[in-house]
Amino acid sequence: MRINLGNARYLVLLTTALAAVAMGRGWARSSGGDENLKWQPTHAVMRPADYAGSAACAHCHRAIFEKQKTTNMAQAAARAAESRVLIKHPTLSFERGPYTYSLRHEGGRVSYTVSDGRDKITEPVFLVVGAGAVFQTYLIEHDGVYYRAPVNYYSAQGKLGLGEDPATPLPASLEAALGKRLTADGVRDCFRCHSPANVVGDGFDTDRLVPGDTCEVCHGPGAEHVAAMRAGKPRESVIFNPTHLRPEEEVDFCSDCHHSIQEVKKGNLRGVRTVISQSYRLVGSRCWNAADRRSRCSFCHDPHAPLVQETAAYDAKCLGCHATSAGAPASADHPGKPCPVGQRDCAHCHMPKVPVPDSSIVYTDHRIRIAPAGTPYPE
Ligand code: HEC
Ligand code: HEC
Ligand code: HEC
Ligand code: HEC
Ligand code: HEC
Ligand code: HEC
Ligand code: HEC
Repeated sequence: MRINLGNARYLVLLTTALAAVAMGRGWARSSGGDENLKWQPTHAVMRPADYAGSAACAHCHRAIFEKQKTTNMAQAAARAAESRVLIKHPTLSFERGPYTYSLRHEGGRVSYTVSDGRDKITEPVFLVVGAGAVFQTYLIEHDGVYYRAPVNYYSAQGKLGLGEDPATPLPASLEAALGKRLTADGVRDCFRCHSPANVVGDGFDTDRLVPGDTCEVCHGPGAEHVAAMRAGKPRESVIFNPTHLRPEEEVDFCSDCHHSIQEVKKGNLRGVRTVISQSYRLVGSRCWNAADRRSRCSFCHDPHAPLVQETAAYDAKCLGCHATSAGAPASADHPGKPCPVGQRDCAHCHMPKVPVPDSSIVYTDHRIRIAPAGTPYPE
């Protein structure tokens, strides 16, 4: 399925695309004036021919590939038949009033059925969005219209549940029960962060689905690099290496999808909801130092490995900058003071978990701070 949107928007995009081609297919030079290529994952203008696909990267970067494919980022979107959740749970169902919603994984495909007891509508799930760390959503197409199923899979419960307010009135018809209608633009918006390599021009393309956030989403299209490496001509290689990003550049890079500081400044996120912008919170913490490479997201998170969920495992990172013995003088290497209270599991006390209203996800506050229990959330 290849979707292109209206002509007016296409023109705007074409202009951007031409500018990007002029700069070398969506690449731009780093703002610092150095010669590093800069790449913004969701602002890219992609040409399918520039992609090699992550399977090609695996030939030479096997260890990274094997680790990365197990991450939630790699599975941020998936073909239904390849979803970890749906492989583990080949049949799922949920009832609401007269309606039964079911998902069935059979013969290499997944079908979604809504029945009212008399009639039913069955359609294949064309995309699963969300790895299912907390939940997962399902997109379907029926009579040329896109829908987001009203039921999600919730990992904590291990079953389907209603993805909307339970007070929402019962749908008046089988068609209405299918789910929330999405415009092609709405579907594209999910792709933007969950599967950007499928955003093509002003639309999206699910035929050559490279679902999820894999190698070329962060490193840019790799066909030229692969060709150069295979030909033994590394000097002709073009691939983006984020290792060269300065802390504030890397924070921008990750928050292209992880909610940017600009989003908070524009007022789109307020109060406790600002916690979903790890970049905004981190930059506001006293630990942040734009001149110290240890302020980067990737200092604490290996972008190629699953999130480490044991808070004590981050101690070595904190103690990379903080002295351990009381009275130790601050040094360039250890600019942070020692803790008068705790010796281990630093993040447990200093990066509290914050539940966000209207969200089933509990976030970790990246504004590292002294957080006495019961004190209000500092915006
Ligand atoms: C034929 C082997 C081969 C393939 C295929 C390959 N790479 Fe590489 N890649 C290399 C080698 C060798 C280096 C180290 C080159 C160097 O250090 O100059 C490298 C370096 C890199 C770097 C660092 C580049 C830099 O400028 O420092 C990145 C990022 C990278 N590869 C990503 C990828 C991605 C993404 C893919 C898949 C699209 C891929 N590679 C496919 C061989 C390969
Ligand atoms: C193209 C968009 C995109 C970019 C760029 C991106 N992420 Fe993500 N990231 C996501 C999405 C989407 C998820 C949620 C995936 C899911 O659970 O479905 C995620 C999840 C994560 C998680 C939680 C993983 C887990 O196991 O629960 C971490 C940690 C993370 N990202 C770190 C980073 C870091 C660090 C960077 C920058 C180097 C980065 N991300 C760049 C889209 C992105
Ligand atoms: C601006 C980037 C962005 C856009 C646009 C976006 N998401 Fe996400 N999504 C994320 C990130 C990042 C996460 C991980 C949680 C977090 O940090 O907020 C996430 C998490 C999720 C999860 C939970 C995944 C899990 O493993 O529990 C689902 C489901 C999801 N998104 C669905 C969607 C759908 C459906 C759309 C389109 C309507 C969409 N997202 C649009 C960035 C985005
Ligand atoms: C979420 C974004 C993201 C994804 C997805 C991703 N990478 Fe990376 N990659 C990074 C970042 C950030 C760095 C720099 C890490 C650092 O400096 O510690 C990096 C570094 C690298 C390097 C090392 C370059 C060097 O100089 O040491 C290679 C090679 C590489 N990635 C290959 C891959 C391959 C192959 C895949 C797919 C299997 C992949 N990456 C997927 C963000 C990503
Ligand atoms: C890049 C170096 C760096 C890293 C990494 C780092 N810190 Fe800091 N942190 C500092 C500096 C510098 C200060 C300011 C001097 C001070 O109070 O120690 C600080 C301040 C603090 C404060 C005092 C905050 C306040 O409001 O007074 C706490 C608490 C703290 N850090 C805990 C941590 C924890 C926990 C971690 C790991 C999750 C961590 N830091 C990681 C450098 C760092
Ligand atoms: C000083 C270490 C540190 C730095 C730097 C850091 N994180 Fe984290 N991050 C953590 C810890 C600790 C957790 C909680 C892990 C757990 O308990 O599951 C976490 C959790 C996350 C999660 C999972 C969702 C959540 O909020 O719990 C995401 C996504 C994430 N970080 C993204 C980022 C991004 C993006 C950056 C850069 C802007 C970043 N992190 C910088 C320590 C760090
Ligand atoms: C049991 C909770 C707890 C743990 C675990 C903990 N801290 Fe603290 N930390 C505190 C409290 C409470 C304070 C404030 C003490 C005060 O104001 O007298 C504090 C203060 C600090 C300060 C400010 C010191 C100053 O002189 O201004 C830093 C820096 C710090 N902690 C870093 C860390 C690091 C690094 C670790 C892990 C090695 C850690 N903390 C583990 C609770 C904890």
